[in-house]
Amino acid sequence: MLFQNIRAKNPTAVLVGTGFLISVVVVLPAALLAQNAEPWSVPADAIKVKNPVPMTGEGLTAIAPLYEQDCARCHGVTGAGTGPAASSLPKEPAKFTDTKMLKNTTDGALFWMITTGRDTMPSYAQLSVLQRWQLVNYLRDLARRSQYRWLGVKHAR
Ligand code: HEC
Repeated sequence: MLFQNIRAKNPTAVLVGTGFLISVVVVLPAALLAQNAEPWSVPADAIKVKNPVPMTGEGLTAIAPLYEQDCARCHGVTGAGTGPAASSLPKEPAKFTDTKMLKNTTDGALFWMITTGRDTMPSYAQLSVLQRWQLVNYLRDLARRSQYRWLGVKHAR
């Protein structure tokens, strides 16, 4: 047997090999299964919260660097879900170019999801309340921009 041979020669190799096997066979699929396939269960109260921050050019410009430095590595600069880190994630990042998805999601729900996070989507509770609402506006703007991109219309920002 292969294993008996290794054991006879090098006990450490057997230990390391077994550890590797356990991580491939047990831990990895468990991590994949742990990815939530269900829609987010955003509390009803959070869904109803109104966005107190109006969408302005200044607000979008103020929050753009934060989106581009952090969110974009997964969600992509354009919001298409194709950031450089996206392919290494067990679950696709949300696409903010998906206007239908965003239409069915309230600002309050977006704010709550950004604050809470889930699985590989980090929690951003450490950002200020203003910054999180500005991000919500930024995501809406990405969706709007994606609708006009095919016309060659450049965003005003
Ligand atoms: C490490 C990768 C990663 C980073 C960084 C990241 N996200 Fe995500 N995000 C995800 C993944 C993956 C999902 C899908 C999670 C799910 O549905 O379980 C997601 C989902 C979301 C959703 C939920 C959309 C919906 O309606 O289902 C929002 C909103 C969101 N991200 C906003 C942001 C914002 C804003 C930032 C930056 C402040 C950000 N994310 C940074 C990976 C990331």
